[in-house]
Amino acid sequence: MKVSEKLSILMVASEAAPFAKEGGLGDVVGALPKYLARLGHDVRVVIPRYYSVSREKYGLRLLTGTLVVPMGIIGHMYCGVYEGRLPGSDVQVYFLEHERFFGRPGLYQQDGQGYLDNDNRFVFLSKAALELCKMLDFHPDVVHAHDWHTGVIPALLNTSYLHDRFVGESASLLTLHNMQHQGNFYPGLMEVLGIGWKHFNYLELEKDDQVNLLKGGIYNATLLNTVSEEYAREIQTAEFGWGLEEVVRERAADLSGILNGVDYEEWSPSCDPFIAKKYTARTVKSGKAACKRDLQEQMGLPVRTDVPLFGIVSRMVKQKGTDIIAEAIHRILTMDVQFVMVGNGEPWAHFYFGDITALYPEKFACYIGYSEALAHKVEAGADFFVMPSAFEPCGLNQMYSLAYGTPPIVRATGGLDDSVDNFDETGLTGDGLKFYQHTAQALFDTIGWAAYTFFNNPKGLAALRRNGMAKRFTWEESALKYEELYRLAIRRRRGAEYYRNRFGE
Ligand code: ADP
Ligand code: GLC
Repeated sequence: MKVSEKLSILMVASEAAPFAKEGGLGDVVGALPKYLARLGHDVRVVIPRYYSVSREKYGLRLLTGTLVVPMGIIGHMYCGVYEGRLPGSDVQVYFLEHERFFGRPGLYQQDGQGYLDNDNRFVFLSKAALELCKMLDFHPDVVHAHDWHTGVIPALLNTSYLHDRFVGESASLLTLHNMQHQGNFYPGLMEVLGIGWKHFNYLELEKDDQVNLLKGGIYNATLLNTVSEEYAREIQTAEFGWGLEEVVRERAADLSGILNGVDYEEWSPSCDPFIAKKYTARTVKSGKAACKRDLQEQMGLPVRTDVPLFGIVSRMVKQKGTDIIAEAIHRILTMDVQFVMVGNGEPWAHFYFGDITALYPEKFACYIGYSEALAHKVEAGADFFVMPSAFEPCGLNQMYSLAYGTPPIVRATGGLDDSVDNFDETGLTGDGLKFYQHTAQALFDTIGWAAYTFFNNPKGLAALRRNGMAKRFTWEESALKYEELYRLAIRRRRGAEYYRNRFGE
């Protein structure tokens, strides 16, 4: 690659693994920049310095100087900046330090209650990231924002930052990981945004008399993408658009789908430090047997090789089908099976599944909380991974499961439909088991199919494992697609002539 072809990319998000992660957004922002950097690009990542991000553990360095962040009616706020590196790369990560907003235990919430000032917290993140470019003398070709937390960035770039020396000409890409959460706040937030009330209108930032940060991003971003092709189609419908389907349809020509990749440096049974025995496709049978035993021991279940072990790692929310699992679980546990659940989320689910453990101690075990180690152990030790989502923009756990030879049981929606091929018992093709209706009955039936396969169809089970482990979802491939989008966005924002002069294409 010619040096001049290098792109400067500012990636701003509310999560990045391993520093701060609640879900797949963290995995994506922790991985994509690494692979973009390997393509030769200059990528800088910006996230908050939450309390949980240890300065010592990650060797963060305080930069000299303070950012001044214009917060409209609130006035100017100040922000310290720490610098670190994404593990396994040279990618610079900037951590925004502001005690009042980020000096608390949770990323978004505490005890099931979202922080009441999430509007100001994430507007602050969005603005501070743009201010940071001045401090770094960084002129990004593209600012890449993710979800509602940084969704307002494209709107800022088109308004109050339009003439900014550093970011005024930057193109923007907004990645939609989840349309359910939109950043809906009281209209007064316009005064904090400070971009003028004229943008509080039906087309731009207003939705149902509220400020909708995601809508502002969808309207303003140079380009948009979702994390699977199927989800890009789905969000144009009322069922999946959460009220923004019309706005999305307006921008359909600028919307594409790029499936997330798997960071195989973190998620491969051949090098996973968390699992009891490392294995490859060749040694999958013995490897998984050792990991299953370890998982059963860890979770306090009887160590049995003769029962199928079903696993879940998930946020416990409606999106993930926690409700239909709750409905089906008693019937599932009438079979000779074991079930392991790792997750946290809605309080009712904590109590409900805690009670299930008490009722079926030989069959069901759960860990209510967040555990990176257990997440890996479940991927390796379970016989099947269960993901009955109501909707799933991409989903990473089913892809991890495939890599670990743990056939996923998924509802055919969004990225689950795109990434899993249904099992065909005759041709021994496919790598997972799919169902279509989002009901407890359909889930139960499919778990029954899996149990039947475990007990009676060892050839089928071996084929499922083999086919899954042969599949690859590489970030190398997805990063190339992002690069293409960035280039298109730059051409759109700055014109074909600028692009030709700069890149000679
Ligand atoms: P989503 O982002 O909607 O939660 P994904 O499947 O894209 O769903 O990503 C979820 C990520 O979060 C995976 O890396 C998964 O292992 C992780 N995860 C979810 N819940 C937990 C938990 N309780 N403990 C550890 N990891 C979790
Ligand atoms: C969201 C989606 C999930 C996706 C993740 C990363 O949290 O719910 O499906 O995999 O973002 O893109």
